[in-house]
Amino acid sequence: MIRFPEEFVFGVAASAYQIEGAWNEDGKGESIWDRFVREPGRILNGDTGDVACDHYHRYPEDVAVMADAGIPAYSLTTAWTRIIPDGTGAVEPRGIAFYDRLVDELLAHGITPYVTLYHWDLPQGLQDRGGWANRETVAAFVRYADVMSDALGDRVKHWKTFNEPWVAAFAGHYFGDFAPGHTDFAEALTVAHHLLLAHGRSVPTIRSNVAESDIGIILDCRPSAPATAAPADIAANRYFDGFRNRWFFDPVFGKGYPRDMVDAYRERGAYETDEPPFVRPGDLEAIATPCDFIGVNYYTALSIGAGHEEDEKPEIKPGPNAPDGHTEMGWEIVPTALTSFLKRIHDDYGATDIRITENGASFSDGPTTEGRIRDRRRIEYLWAHLEAVADAIDAGVPVTGYFVWSILDNFEWDLGYSQRFGLVWVDHATGQRLPKDSLSWYGGVIASRSLG
Ligand code: FCB
Repeated sequence: MIRFPEEFVFGVAASAYQIEGAWNEDGKGESIWDRFVREPGRILNGDTGDVACDHYHRYPEDVAVMADAGIPAYSLTTAWTRIIPDGTGAVEPRGIAFYDRLVDELLAHGITPYVTLYHWDLPQGLQDRGGWANRETVAAFVRYADVMSDALGDRVKHWKTFNEPWVAAFAGHYFGDFAPGHTDFAEALTVAHHLLLAHGRSVPTIRSNVAESDIGIILDCRPSAPATAAPADIAANRYFDGFRNRWFFDPVFGKGYPRDMVDAYRERGAYETDEPPFVRPGDLEAIATPCDFIGVNYYTALSIGAGHEEDEKPEIKPGPNAPDGHTEMGWEIVPTALTSFLKRIHDDYGATDIRITENGASFSDGPTTEGRIRDRRRIEYLWAHLEAVADAIDAGVPVTGYFVWSILDNFEWDLGYSQRFGLVWVDHATGQRLPKDSLSWYGGVIASRSLG
């Protein structure tokens, strides 16, 4: 039997655009996702987050579901466009009032709120002025972080600045699958830098607004291994790791950008200068501003061969017929890679407090005739990954929390509603919620602090 320490935090997570809906209510401004979903061909089946799970109106029901299951912590994200609709102008009090109500509802049910400020939904008004490629967006974010942490800081202690800057930068500006849909490698690098800079610059601001604050950033990770022992595959894997992991972990932990990648990106034609042109004096120090923890999102690991140095696409296409050993995202299930990645960030970076801020599985099991959802494969996935976390803790890695993605089936970006990550099933036509077997299983793990 595996037991988790008393102070270990179990929770669930979701993000604003994926669940809230109410895309243009109560003064909310347009975000780059509101714009992107309206471009033909961008989203599977033409789905949008206009209504999503209608959490904006149904949040009391969602909080009650979490409370009934015994979930002690909920990681939510705030929509910048509800707070400062065009990114830089006046503050919208009705937007703040929504998060006030949500936080109060959580606290009234004994659930600790964790707030992430940015989960990809940049105000379109800022995108019109260059978005994250424009350095001025950094200051606009710091102001938003100031407004938000000032408004909620009396009740919310746990803050995360950004979710997955790699995805925002590269899926949004190089691969073009995500908003704003650009395909420019040099721009993606500039965007990545400004995201990291905005993170570092906002940490002191949040700290000054929140007593006993607990602040971090969420980095997504893709552990990888060379496809074979051939030198070309080893080199490809090293590049992939630099592209996907080290370019973000290194500067956040004060090591600056990795030299091999700075050189590789110059050779790739991203810039001609010795150092990346977007880095200004003081930036790297700001990015490395000490935080209280590092958040890590983990789903899968990859095997990388020559020619696939920047290949993020799994060979297995997303869909309900995923072969055994894969989720319906087409992602291979590799829990041991989580253990080794956690050991690595402890060893390489000296991380002293690591939290799994997202981990979960997409499986589309729906209600049986008795109205039950027997999502055995999700339970197996979560079980195996919690074991992987426990193994890391046993090996001396300071992992202090684990959040399941996600509480609700929701809008999965370019794949629309075709993927279901929830512990709670949502009928997207009616909004009806139905807890899955995995929710009560997870509640049992939390109550006993043990597996098995
Ligand atoms: C992560 C995102 C989250 C969700 C999961 C499946 O990369 O942060 O919004 O899409 O993947």
